[in-house]
Amino acid sequence: MTAVDLGAAPGGWTWQLVNRHIRVTAVDNGPMAESLMDSGLVEHQRADGFTFKPRKPVNWMVCDIVEKPARTAAMIETWLGEGWCQEAVVNLKLPMKQRFAEVQRLLERIEDGLKARGLKVSIGCKQLYHDREEVTCHLRRL
Ligand SMILES: C[S@@+](CC[C@H](N)C(=O)[O-])C[C@H]1O[C@@H](n2cnc3c(N)ncnc32)[C@H](O)[C@@H]1O
Repeated sequence: MTAVDLGAAPGGWTWQLVNRHIRVTAVDNGPMAESLMDSGLVEHQRADGFTFKPRKPVNWMVCDIVEKPARTAAMIETWLGEGWCQEAVVNLKLPMKQRFAEVQRLLERIEDGLKARGLKVSIGCKQLYHDREEVTCHLRRL
C-alpha cells in the first residue's frame, strides 16, 4: 500500500505507516528522522502540503499540519473528491470558539461536497487520548 503524510516531520505518523509496511511520501519542509529514511520505504519531499498533488493515487493520505480547520477540511475534500486517496486520517485543529459546531459544520460540508460529486464517504471523528486542541478524523470513500 502507499500513503502520503502531509506535515510529516519528524515522522511519528510516518513511522506508524512504515511499521505496517506502507510506502510513504512524507511532505514537510522540516527534517525527517534518519532512522525512518533508512527504512527505504520513505520518500521525503520538501513541499507545501496544501499544494502537493501525488503523482499517482495512493491508498492513504494522513495530515497533521497545524492550520485553520476550514482549510484542512477543503483539502480533505479535494483529496477524496479527486480520487487522490481512498482513505484519510486527518487532525482538525480546533478553533477557539464553538468547537463542536465548527467541526460538525466542516464534516457536513465535506460530506455534501462529495455528494455533489456523486461520491459517498464514511466519516468517524473523535478526540483521542493524546489529542489536545484537536480532533482526529477518519474518512473513507465508499
Ligand atoms: C504537529 S507537526 C507533525 C508531527 C508529525 N505528525 C509526527 O508525528 O511526527 C506539524 C508539521 O507540519 C509541518 N507543516 C506546517 N505547515 C506545513 C505545510 N504547509 N506543508 C507541509 N508541512 C507543513 C511542520 O513543519 C511540522 O513538522
